[in-house]
Amino acid sequence: NLYVVLMAGGVGVRFWPYSRNSRPKQFLDVLGTGKTLIQSTLERFLPLCPMENIYVVTHEEHAALVKQQLPELSDQQILAEPMRKNTAACIAYASYKIYEKNKDAIIVVSPSDHLIMKENEFRDIIKKAVDQAKAQDKLITLGIKPTRPETGYGYIQYHTEKNFAKKVKTFTEKPELTLAKKFLESGDFVWNAGIFIWGVQAIVKALQSYTPEMAEVFEDIKTKLGTSEEKGAIQAAYPQCKSISIDYAVMEKAQNVYVCLGDFDWSDLGSWASIHEISAKDENNNAISANAQTYDTRNCIIRGSNDKLIVVQGLNGYLVGEFGNVVIVCEKDKEEQFRRFVNDVKTRP
Ligand code: GDD
Ligand code: MG
Repeated sequence: NLYVVLMAGGVGVRFWPYSRNSRPKQFLDVLGTGKTLIQSTLERFLPLCPMENIYVVTHEEHAALVKQQLPELSDQQILAEPMRKNTAACIAYASYKIYEKNKDAIIVVSPSDHLIMKENEFRDIIKKAVDQAKAQDKLITLGIKPTRPETGYGYIQYHTEKNFAKKVKTFTEKPELTLAKKFLESGDFVWNAGIFIWGVQAIVKALQSYTPEMAEVFEDIKTKLGTSEEKGAIQAAYPQCKSISIDYAVMEKAQNVYVCLGDFDWSDLGSWASIHEISAKDENNNAISANAQTYDTRNCIIRGSNDKLIVVQGLNGYLVGEFGNVVIVCEKDKEEQFRRFVNDVKTRP
């Protein structure tokens, strides 16, 4: 009864120009392992779930890329979205599709662009969480011990109880920095890893309760899912959905949210700083994957192809990279600026 839904519709703006519209982060071999992030994600779940129960939801312009990188998936398992409506619509689509096949399904919903180092520990936690989800009455998420006042995550406060799945008191998506600092200092909160485990009935019910308009859109077309009419129905349905993440749409509101705490060396690889953190470094703390010579250079990321020599002198904390037709030199820790770079490129005359 276990199904896995991989969400793969993000654009990865913070990794521009490495990640492009044509190839967002989940389709890149970010860690130099020989596998892209979505390939590693699928592999992580294979010991738990048969291949035919794994679905990938992505923007239609990337459906071919998914097929190319995950050739084991059939066309029916690649759910193509005509437009980006964030994760609530993505989850609604997959949930209704699975509901039509198997009303007792348990679904693990996972991002396709995260790093998990301790895979066995991770799978053990998923297995236990799946057991907890079988009664079809809980929305379960995984919680990670926070280490910094990150504002890009959800924060979860829970009832301290012995149970593996702990009842959630509050779920706060992407708090302001002052609030994130308070949460961190209190020691009472964990980060939401963005990996969800629930029965298909539980998530459909939650969508009906907390985003009834969106649920109705999918209720209307559900019998077409899995038939030759699916594509047309989805094309018509998506424009009616609002753009909202599952965290705001459901997790902040639902009363039956539970968290399972996990220690599986998780990173959402959300920024160049996090890539620097997990990469191998030289004696000056530079993460270099390029043909490079460095002088008086520290804490940098240097990336490029091997057919060009990159010489760097006197930089501290920079990203220096050649990605396709773009060369970038910028402070690697200033995450907000990448959005600006992308926008300015788009509006260039
Ligand atoms: N199919 C599809 N369609 N997938 C999408 C879409 C969409 O419109 N938008 C995002 N995704 C995918 C992304 O590719 C990623 O794998 C996943 O959904 C999560 O989306 P993000 O945009 O990366 O979310 P986030 O990082 O801001 O926040 C979420 O993850 C954090 C942990 O990394 C939230 O769940 C936070 O609460 C959580 O802390
Ligand atoms: Mg993310």
